[in-house]
Amino acid sequence: MASKLIAPSMLAADFGNLQRDTEMVNNSYADWFHIDVMDGHFVPNISYGMPVIAAIKKHATKPLDVHLMIEQPERYIEEFAKVGADIITVHYESTVHLHRTLRQIKDAGCKAGIVLNITTPLNVLEDILPECYMILLMSINPGFGGQKFEDITYKRIKNLRKMIDEQGLDTRIEIDGGVTDKNIEQLVAAGADTFVAGSHVFKSDNPTATIKTLKALANS
Ligand code: DX5
Ligand code: ZN
Repeated sequence: MASKLIAPSMLAADFGNLQRDTEMVNNSYADWFHIDVMDGHFVPNISYGMPVIAAIKKHATKPLDVHLMIEQPERYIEEFAKVGADIITVHYESTVHLHRTLRQIKDAGCKAGIVLNITTPLNVLEDILPECYMILLMSINPGFGGQKFEDITYKRIKNLRKMIDEQGLDTRIEIDGGVTDKNIEQLVAAGADTFVAGSHVFKSDNPTATIKTLKALANS
């Protein structure tokens, strides 16, 4: 299986100290920056947009994994690419012409992925899987950090891994929401390989050490 990656969610960073927190991630065992974009329509919360992403990109030395929780994401793909997105994931539930949107992401020079809400059936991925670098399975209802992990996710990871294997693909499975040092090994065992962690990292006493522990547990 692919190496296990850790993507701290900048939603939980201190925006007053964005450069400091970006450098903390640079100097840690983290692999990517996870960037949550929320529009107040697709999810009941507003986070940040292009200027904040550009500010993170200015100091980041690792890829930006941009998770779009916005309606009609196809309207903004090129702009997100321009401010520094390396990977862009869009929700299945947010765009009508998914195939076209994924092509648009790739044409903009980024890796493309699809996000599913916690109870969106996996079979909607069947035909589009070969177009995806990664599938992000939500393990909470999107919109806020610090929520409790939903156990239904384990079954979903297993079934998705099976679907990926059956098609002979090496698509990444990313898990987002409530990931901690208590569940990451079980998530790996189920078949996930990429982990977002927001509050568990940034609300800990020593974020750098917390990232190191997550990375070690995921790769043990
Ligand atoms: C929520 C976001 C998550 C969030 C995760 O909609 O997609 O990336 O930052 O936060 P934690 O790790 O605190 O659950
Ligand atoms: Zn996210």
